[in-house]
Amino acid sequence: MEITNVTEYQAIAKQKLPKMIYDYYASGAEDEWTLQENREAFARILFRPRILIDVSKIDMTTTILGFKLSMPIMISPTAMQKMAHPDGEYATARAASAAGTIMVYKDRKVVEQLVRRAEKAGFKAIALTVDTPRLGRREADIKNRFVLPPNLTLKNFEGLDLGKMDQANDSGLASYVAGQIDRTLSWKDVKWLQSITTMPILVKGVITAEDSRLAVENGAAGIIVSNHGARQLDYVPATISALEEVVKGAGGQIPVFLDGGVRRGTDVFKALALGAAGVFIGRPVVFSLAVAGEAGVSNVLKMLRDEFELTMALSGCNSLADITRNHVVTEADKFGVMPSRL
Ligand SMILES: Cc1cc2nc3c(=O)[nH]c(=O)nc-3n(C[C@H](O)[C@H](O)[C@H](O)COP(=O)(O)O)c2cc1C
Repeated sequence: MEITNVTEYQAIAKQKLPKMIYDYYASGAEDEWTLQENREAFARILFRPRILIDVSKIDMTTTILGFKLSMPIMISPTAMQKMAHPDGEYATARAASAAGTIMVYKDRKVVEQLVRRAEKAGFKAIALTVDTPRLGRREADIKNRFVLPPNLTLKNFEGLDLGKMDQANDSGLASYVAGQIDRTLSWKDVKWLQSITTMPILVKGVITAEDSRLAVENGAAGIIVSNHGARQLDYVPATISALEEVVKGAGGQIPVFLDGGVRRGTDVFKALALGAAGVFIGRPVVFSLAVAGEAGVSNVLKMLRDEFELTMALSGCNSLADITRNHVVTEADKFGVMPSRL
């Protein structure tokens, strides 16, 4: 069967992958309200397309943190891609030439070693995940007693004596993370991290204007509006609903990106219209990787690119700069519920 959109990979991946692994990729926290909302909130935003504009040449290129990209669609860090496909992150990186990430660990020396490795390996930026002082309750992982398959290790931590995850009596990942993640992480650590590297730091996991302002004040190079693919705190708003207030908080000083539920070119357009400089995708990458390896990831990026280009054409936009707030209507516009205190 021909695959005609990004979402279709999920059902095929479900048939192909062992249940424990599929559930780890697919699941969200607790009731999975935010997981559903990440998609539904996009569906509630409608277009105000403009007509009779020459759209014979469409330019989707953009410059992000000084790097020229062919389109404003990038790949989020998703852990443990080798469970999806033996080529794992290599295939994804080849398909995207995209950046990777680190998670932040208790031991500052370990973090420093990871940063040096990333610099040596030619990484250009660090995404600092700030929404995971503890791991969210992913009940499928608890039921499945999720643990990394025995032939795989957490490669980034190899040689640092942190690469193993033991069988546990709940979710093996939750237990592992509980031991390694630094619950005391705070804004001063963002400053510290920036002091040990010249790589720009993107703070990933901001969903309020207050934290957006603090990110600017503490020297972040950019913000990723993210709820960790709805895997952390359930009942936070969809990222697309939180985007405008975060953009407002950043006051145009640093770029704001978004991930969470982006599955269509129309979603990309909506995020840009509400002030995002670009978007990231998470699960579509692991599911397409599971189904077709590198070719699958390439196809996902191509489908999103083609859909986004068509959306621009049908909305009367030739370049990303042409995409404006007036091209979309949100619920806040309809009901005037934009919180005035922000
Ligand atoms: C299987 C999986 C593993 C993830 N691992 C990480 C991680 O190690 N670090 C991190 O910052 N975010 C991680 N995330 C969150 C993603 O970076 C991203 O925020 C999210 O997947 C975007 O939402 P989407 O999957 O709806 O596109 C993970 C997400 C998934 C689905």
